[in-house]
Amino acid sequence: MIEQVKGTQNIFENDADKFLYIRNKFFSVFNNSGYSYVQTPHLEYSELFEKSIGQNSEIVTKQMYQFKDKGGRSLVLRPEGTSSIVRYHSQYQKDITNQYSYFGQMFRYENPQKNRYREFTQGGIEIIGNIDTFSDFQIINDSIKFLTELELKFTLEINTIGSIKDRENYTKELYKYFKLNENELSDESKEKLEINTLRILDSNNQEDIPIINKAPVITAYVNEESLNKYGLLKTILLKNNIPFKENTSLVRGLDYYNDLTFEFVGEDGLVLGGGGRYDRLAEILNIGTFNGVGVAFGIERIMNTITAKNTNPKIYIIGLNLEKITSYCHLLDKNGIDYYKPPRLSKINTQFKNAKNFNVKYVVNTDEDTIKDLENNISIDFNIEVLIDN
Ligand code: HAM
Repeated sequence: MIEQVKGTQNIFENDADKFLYIRNKFFSVFNNSGYSYVQTPHLEYSELFEKSIGQNSEIVTKQMYQFKDKGGRSLVLRPEGTSSIVRYHSQYQKDITNQYSYFGQMFRYENPQKNRYREFTQGGIEIIGNIDTFSDFQIINDSIKFLTELELKFTLEINTIGSIKDRENYTKELYKYFKLNENELSDESKEKLEINTLRILDSNNQEDIPIINKAPVITAYVNEESLNKYGLLKTILLKNNIPFKENTSLVRGLDYYNDLTFEFVGEDGLVLGGGGRYDRLAEILNIGTFNGVGVAFGIERIMNTITAKNTNPKIYIIGLNLEKITSYCHLLDKNGIDYYKPPRLSKINTQFKNAKNFNVKYVVNTDEDTIKDLENNISIDFNIEVLIDN
């Protein structure tokens, strides 16, 4: 038997229903809020992510699916979407400010477990060009619309990490502090100390928590202009009754951020989505001077959190007479009624059993011109009004 690749998934049955439900909500919320959908390639040059996410970030050092193609080019299966959208913007939309949405698979060589996969789906939005605090607000507000439509419970956590220079200064101080307390850190955090000091702040390891709680906080190293922008955003959120929690250790795992960082945290502490500002990313990539802000959601994480929604058809049509069943299909189609049908005209009992497996309310028997109401166990003569009303 050929096994399935570790960390990948087949999404089917109940999960497939949820996945499509979330995807439809994603497009209806964001496309109706002015974000244009862009599909970028799954394959990119390694250089794009090495420069954007950062040479020392865990994604680049440990998690990229990186290989040489037959022409000797160094390529990666994209680990995230923002860098590709920024590349796209500089190629095709450089001189304007635009709102984008994207939805698709990402790849990270992680330790697979529930809610952490090697191939997973992100739905994201970005505003790129000449942007301001209203852009930050929109990204947060529209994200809340999306999560609320899905009836999810979540907390918005926000922080400011200042300029890239501020972060460098902070990292130096943080390094000194953790170095002094190195013996009390977990082995995993000891490993991060030299090249990835900031990531120690993300640790959930009980050994690390007391040391992290006493670590210097980034806010003390953030420049005044960034603090003012952050203050303005907080005021606007408060004025619009958008609850948030400040989390000064929210520095996020990608090097391209500056100023605003935020995450949407589910009830059980699961991070459903996160994002922030990346005003220097275009410069770092040497493709322009435009700014950006955005967020990406983990679609499987949302799928694992929401309860199943049954928006499936309530009608199944069966029959053996090809002309009759096809004329019923035509009638239902004309009236915009959704329905299931057997894949072929198999024995009537088999078709009926199939109908029951789909958990429908009505079975239309096109040979007999009847509707069987499975919930009330009654049969009536066919009447299209009954189906229209349901
Ligand atoms: P990220 O925090 O790396 O940010 O990923 C965003 C979301 O993707 C996470 O909050 C999580 O829900 C989901 N996710 C990440 N890794 C996995 C995984 N291995 N398995 C399942 N779900 C996962 C970014 O990727 C940024 N590009 C977000 C952004 C957009 N920043 C600005 N614009």
